[in-house]
Amino acid sequence: MAELIVTGGRRLEGSVRIPRSKNSVLPILAAALLCEGESRICDVPCLSDVDTSLALLNAVGACACREGTDVLVCAGDQMQPSVPDSLSGAMRSSVYYIVPLLYRCGEAHISFPGGCRIGARPINLHIEGLRAMGAEIETHPNTIICRAPKGLHGANFCLSFPSVGATETLMMAAAFAKGRTVLCGCAKEPEITDLARFLRRCGARIQGAGGTCMTIDGVERLKAVAHTPIPDRITAATVLFGVAACGGDVTLTGVRYSHLNAVLHTLSAMGAELCRPELGVLRIRMEKRPDAAFVTTGVYPEFPTDAGPLFAAAALQATGESMIRETIFENRFACAAEFCRLGAEAHVQNSRLYINGVSGLKGGLLASQDLRGGAALVIAALAAQGKSRITGTEYIARGYEDIAQLFGRIGAELYWEK
Ligand code: EPZ
Repeated sequence: MAELIVTGGRRLEGSVRIPRSKNSVLPILAAALLCEGESRICDVPCLSDVDTSLALLNAVGACACREGTDVLVCAGDQMQPSVPDSLSGAMRSSVYYIVPLLYRCGEAHISFPGGCRIGARPINLHIEGLRAMGAEIETHPNTIICRAPKGLHGANFCLSFPSVGATETLMMAAAFAKGRTVLCGCAKEPEITDLARFLRRCGARIQGAGGTCMTIDGVERLKAVAHTPIPDRITAATVLFGVAACGGDVTLTGVRYSHLNAVLHTLSAMGAELCRPELGVLRIRMEKRPDAAFVTTGVYPEFPTDAGPLFAAAALQATGESMIRETIFENRFACAAEFCRLGAEAHVQNSRLYINGVSGLKGGLLASQDLRGGAALVIAALAAQGKSRITGTEYIARGYEDIAQLFGRIGAELYWEK
């Protein structure tokens, strides 16, 4: 995979359009298998996780392809229930295919999903919920075999943790289960609401999405529709914290402010000037060194865990001590050791990342170890003086169409080197 060569120390200026949300697109691509006909998912970014999803869909007998910037998905007549291990293990989102395969084939064989190594990332909540709805699930060391010979039935199920993925799995299951399902303890992320919007437009009967409790009445059939996913709030946060780190004046278009409240609050605390000239447009100006800040991540609408490393990168040169407490994943700050290669003073203790802001970070050799940590290294390198080389960019490609272009179009100097 190509490496990123970054020349830091430049202000960021210009305008950038925020792409559609990876974490909205991925579950919707799976949910499209529940529909009769051809679904069109519009304006889908070119991400490696999307490519993996297309390969997975075609491997199980569906038809999935790109048409311009859209993705077309249609269930096949001869679907098969097994997901190749290479594809299951390539991303976390392979777990979303359990339910569509149960629906289409009456069974699903899938190895444990992959994904960024930011924690153990079990799928017990997905399994417990599906069992409550009548699925028979065997878990083996590497494989999960699910069957639903009599189909799924409605259930009252309470998630012990508001897991985004488990909420999405159980929404898809309840959409066609016989009878009513009441899900409590649901995740409330915007991506959940977007999946519900897609399913409702296909004919599903879902109430309460975006809240902690959802009521879903199963229907016989869902019909394919065209759907444009919400903007990617974490890509927006990536650009915003990049400006906070480097200084500058950047306008973001195609954003949804309401998805960014906690992030915008933190940016204001760091001294960024934010304004909303018109709907969907957000302007950020940073004319000084960031002020130190304290952040605790949490489930939506709290500060998003995915933006934690991005905030940390901007805090490396803040005036004073910053701290971020991670409450979702066990290993969110693998990037901390890499920050120190630039001369940063950062250390992790008990899920807290402590940062003593310094001035004069210097470029260095950095290794990405996960998607958002890799994006944070790009931000840190952009803020450092001199050249940096970033490896492990395959992690970054999972969630960013072209991070060099994303920052390059607002004045950053960085390029890919094969
Ligand atoms: C989704 O992952 C996102 N991925 C993640 O974004 C995001 O960080 C995460 O939600 C939290 O917001 C996608 O949407 C594709 P969870 P997911 O289930 O669904 C525990 C990115 O960078 N848990 O909400 O896997 C789990 O271990 C990615 O774009 C269980 O214990 O997250 C974790 O501690 C990274 N049992 C917590 O819940 C389960 O069955 C949150 O996980 C499921 C989860």
